[in-house]
Amino acid sequence: MEKILSVKDLCVSLTKNTQSSILKNIDIEILKGQAYGIMGETGSGKTMAAKAIMGLLPHGTKRTFGKINLNGKQLHQLSKKSMRSILGKDIAFIPQNTAGAFNPLHTISSQLKSILKNYNGLNNSESEEIAMKWLTTVKLNGIDRIFKSYPFQLSGGQNQRILIAIALALKPKLLIADEPTTALDKINKNKILDLFIELQDQYSLTILFISHDISVIRNLCKRVAVMYAGEIVEEGTENEIFNHPRHPYVIDLLKSFHYNGKENSLKVEDVSNLQFLSKGCGYYSRCSERMDKCQTNNPSLYQITENQKTRCFLYEGKD
Ligand SMILES: Nc1ncnc2c1ncn2[C@@H]1O[C@H](COP(=O)(O)OP(=O)(O)O)[C@@H](O)[C@H]1O
Ligand code: SF4
Ligand SMILES: [Mg+2]
Repeated sequence: MEKILSVKDLCVSLTKNTQSSILKNIDIEILKGQAYGIMGETGSGKTMAAKAIMGLLPHGTKRTFGKINLNGKQLHQLSKKSMRSILGKDIAFIPQNTAGAFNPLHTISSQLKSILKNYNGLNNSESEEIAMKWLTTVKLNGIDRIFKSYPFQLSGGQNQRILIAIALALKPKLLIADEPTTALDKINKNKILDLFIELQDQYSLTILFISHDISVIRNLCKRVAVMYAGEIVEEGTENEIFNHPRHPYVIDLLKSFHYNGKENSLKVEDVSNLQFLSKGCGYYSRCSERMDKCQTNNPSLYQITENQKTRCFLYEGKD
């Protein structure tokens, strides 16, 4: 199947100290029509990975290594200006918090229309028609009222649906959604997740879906990467990751989550300090299987089945 995104050996560090890894050797491949999930605790590097792909790393951090190919375009070689034309058109982004995603001074109608005019080159009536069509597709009720409203007059769930409508209307090659359900209450969270599942199925969307919530990733994604302390520690199909986890961290993570509908209940530690360890396995201090060499050597990602890779010395030599 056609590859849409290929990220190879992506490394990100602080600009001032390039030895301080924030992301280490991230490899991601997403096929056309695939929903690919990145899951991990807060601070594990999920958002930084998305930002690095979009060329939007925050001030004080930089990509030190790695290639990012989007449908034949080498994103890591593009200038900031060229990258801006990729965003919106080729990559659409849905953030966690919709508050900063809209201009509070303009109605939804004027914001939607200006985005569609800018990116798709539509005139006023065409952009209105397309905007209405996608607002209907994301199952918003009372579209006429919503169209005339300002973002602050709408709920978090309504604004999240509008962002999804904008993303779909732009027909991007890749949709990146970073914790799009996290800021919502439980009812809205489930509704938005159902919407993603339905739209992904209906339009064969290529999605990079980021979440700390295991149930969300499990319900939507066919391929999954688990991040810990700036690295992908395990990668595979949804079935391999959730039914046959190999990495001690992933095993611990799934054990703590009994598939009982509760949110991921693993004690969330601040893993941000771990990134700055230059040597050894990032999970060493928490791992019940640790060996001497894990303290000083960092394991590679070992290919252990056709569809699964894991970063742990227990699987060394088994690939
Ligand atoms: N603006 C920043 N400047 C420097 N380091 C940052 C910045 N934002 C995040 N980080 C570092 O990157 C790590 C990963 O952060 P992030 O990708 O936001 O985690 P996640 O999305 O998984 O919760 C953090 O633990 C922190 O060390
Ligand atoms: S490499 Fe060692 S410390 Fe790291 S997860 Fe595997 S056994 Fe545990
Ligand atoms: Mg994040």
